[in-house]
Amino acid sequence: MIERRFTRIQTELPGPQSAAVFDTKAKYVAAPLETYAPFIVKRSEGAIIEDLDGNRFLDFSGGWGCLAVGQRHARVVEALKDQIDGYLHTDFTAVPYAPFIKLAEVLCEHTAIDGPKKAAFFNSGAESVENAVKIARAYTKRKAVLVFENAFHGRTLLAMTMTHKAKPYKYGFGPFAPDVYRLPYPYEYRKSVTAEDIEHALLSLVDPSEVAAMVIEPVVGEGGFLVPPTWFLPALRSLADKYGFVLVFDEVQSGIGRTGKFFAFEHFDVQPDLICVAKSLGSGLPLSGVVGKAEIMDAPIGSAIGGTYAGNPLACRAAIEVIRSLDEENLLEQATRVGDRVRSHFERLAETYDVIGDIRGLGAMIGMELVTDRTSKTPNKELTGKIANAALNLGAIFPTAGLRGNVLRVLVSLVISDEQIDEGMAILEAAFEQALG
Ligand SMILES: Cc1ncc(COP(=O)(O)O)c(C=O)c1O
Repeated sequence: MIERRFTRIQTELPGPQSAAVFDTKAKYVAAPLETYAPFIVKRSEGAIIEDLDGNRFLDFSGGWGCLAVGQRHARVVEALKDQIDGYLHTDFTAVPYAPFIKLAEVLCEHTAIDGPKKAAFFNSGAESVENAVKIARAYTKRKAVLVFENAFHGRTLLAMTMTHKAKPYKYGFGPFAPDVYRLPYPYEYRKSVTAEDIEHALLSLVDPSEVAAMVIEPVVGEGGFLVPPTWFLPALRSLADKYGFVLVFDEVQSGIGRTGKFFAFEHFDVQPDLICVAKSLGSGLPLSGVVGKAEIMDAPIGSAIGGTYAGNPLACRAAIEVIRSLDEENLLEQATRVGDRVRSHFERLAETYDVIGDIRGLGAMIGMELVTDRTSKTPNKELTGKIANAALNLGAIFPTAGLRGNVLRVLVSLVISDEQIDEGMAILEAAFEQALG
């Protein structure tokens, strides 16, 4: 029984207003742009979305992990209005503006890497990955890039090559970028890998003197919310030091407070050389960045990196407020609170449903892996889709993840209240009953 205080389903989905817009979409929007929710958004606040037909949903997807401080955080909105009254665009490299520089200062101050740091801003997560590799190549004067199983780094040519999911992300889009080598990942629920295995794989794929960068998500996002064993990231640091390549942490999904620390790597005894950041940094505005050791960031020649809209002033103003909110509104503690509460609901569900094979995550970045049964651990993509779909129709948006599409994950805004979490979890429980019933 769902006690509804925040959600409301008053039409079939899609309702008539949404359905009319979907009709137009079918006619004019390119077919590959499939959409997940069966409704069209009208407005959104915090973790709540209302559609064109007056239905209200709890959003555990947070715009695919972009809304750590919630939809339309008051400080973000105020800063944006102020910025609109000033100027919208100059291109930072044509006529520079202070918010870009201020954001670089604030981001460097929040980056737990010893020594001088610098930052550069771009538009998307994929662009930040591309630029981290460019910077590492310029610094090392080497070419090869090491990546891992289960990785997602974006959809541009190099980032897509670095991504480890053929369908849909790479299907029909080859040839891919050269000099990208994939190493085994210690997916603890399914596969044991040692530090020796990783070094052995590296040495068999490429001579390490040719490696410019190793890129890894400290907590794997799209690949299924995988938290590495504690030895893993420090072992990668040792390899980077031994062979002289740049260690890049892709914190596009795991960064900006989501795991209860500013960056997820801070949970481990390790420091990277460069970090890719995006998603929640801009709170919905297109913004990404690379931040890291000044000596490496300064390596490319003048004007070698950038982009017309890179670090747009509106996005930089939003990001400065996002970071201030994290600091002043205790959102890192909130992330831990949200994660603990979701985890205890998941664990309660797992007592009833043995299709829940694994529950894992760090802070509010938490998910469950669904299997046919706990003995065979066969991935259960079909059931995962059914549950996510049932939850959508009952009023809660839960994204899926994983190489095999069998992980339900939470990327909710950190400002979600306990009562909202509980209502969302009651919806999830009802979705389990429907899908398995
Ligand atoms: C870890 C990681 N890197 C890179 C990206 C690509 O970001 P974008 O979609 O903004 O290009 C994503 C997107 O989900 C991501 O999760």
